[in-house]
Amino acid sequence: MSTRKVRVAVNGYGVIGKRIADAVAAQDDMELIGVADVVSDWRIKVAVEKGYPVYASTSQAVAEMRAAGIAIAGELNDLFGQIDIIADATPKKVAAANLEKYRAAGIKSIFQGGEKHSLTGHSFVAQANYATALGRNTTRVVSCNTTSIVRTLGALKSAGLLKKARGVLVRRATDPWESDHSGVMNTVVPEKSIPSHQGPDAQTVIPDLDVVTIAVVAAHTNCHLHAWSVELTRPATKDEVLAAFRAAPRIAFLHMSEGVVALNSTIEMMADLGRPRGDMWEVGLWEDGLTVVGNELFYNYQVYNQAIVVPETIDAIRALTGIETNGAASIAKTDRVLGLMRDFV
Ligand SMILES: NC(=O)c1ccc[n+]([C@@H]2O[C@H](COP(=O)([O-])OP(=O)(O)OC[C@H]3O[C@@H](n4cnc5c(N)ncnc54)[C@H](O)[C@@H]3O)[C@@H](O)[C@H]2O)c1
Repeated sequence: MSTRKVRVAVNGYGVIGKRIADAVAAQDDMELIGVADVVSDWRIKVAVEKGYPVYASTSQAVAEMRAAGIAIAGELNDLFGQIDIIADATPKKVAAANLEKYRAAGIKSIFQGGEKHSLTGHSFVAQANYATALGRNTTRVVSCNTTSIVRTLGALKSAGLLKKARGVLVRRATDPWESDHSGVMNTVVPEKSIPSHQGPDAQTVIPDLDVVTIAVVAAHTNCHLHAWSVELTRPATKDEVLAAFRAAPRIAFLHMSEGVVALNSTIEMMADLGRPRGDMWEVGLWEDGLTVVGNELFYNYQVYNQAIVVPETIDAIRALTGIETNGAASIAKTDRVLGLMRDFV
């Protein structure tokens, strides 16, 4: 492992970008050189408060940010000469247009799940394919739901238990900070196509997964709920299945018996555990509800959509820059620094 710190910037300081920035700043093998965005209100002023050097992502934003009293350190181009890698967490389409800029500047780049696999030609979940990302110039950390699917079905597959999986995803309507201007209310909206994109997306990481997903959007603002029916390769016991999940990283157990009975209970518990922003980086899987009948397995889990991709992005930084060549070592380090758990209570 190298001793030089990797120099990182984050472009797009929104829901995902601000969390990546904090996680980078917490790693002892990384240095957060700056964050860039186009907004000039509280969202970026918090970054100033935190002491992060703030850059304007576009020329137009320079004047607006200065007018708002933000002492910007420069424009995005000024960052390029100071960094090894950039985590792009800008919105869909904006991000895709940035790849050429990063390439031309000779810096490595990580994109998020709003982008297509074809943008980078590589989609990343640390436990599944860290090795194939080593030394690459760019990758895409898959979406929150896809990350959870790869973690859980990947765990069953690694244990030789997975034949095929069918999942129903109850998605949050919008992120909490946006609920004044977007999201559905008092209804549940099925997605137009089956399979929903998450199943095929998981296959960009594990190509031979036999998986179908059906997604609906519900009227709450934080976390997705998944309900899975899995056909196992053979009859198994609940303990065998739990052991398979426990052998994989970043799956933690929730317990109905402890009063953690719904998405809101978990959210409250994360806040009470003192996690930053109340985040849960793990897949929160209900242990006591998990049921095995012969070779059929059924379970529910919770995806804290705003945070689950953050540890994956930290590992992607190590993989692309090669600062750590061992995926398991990177995962362990990231999880230790952030404070991931296996059983919450
Ligand atoms: N929100 C989630 O739950 C979630 C979960 C997993 C992955 N993702 C993915 O992460 C990516 C970012 O999503 P998000 O939810 O953080 O979005 P967001 O809207 O919260 O944040 C995007 C940020 O980019 C900024 N921005 C807009 N135009 C820009 C530009 N030209 N240059 C620089 N910055 C610009 C916005 O001001 C905003 O701060 C998307 O690919 C999304 O699909 C989101």
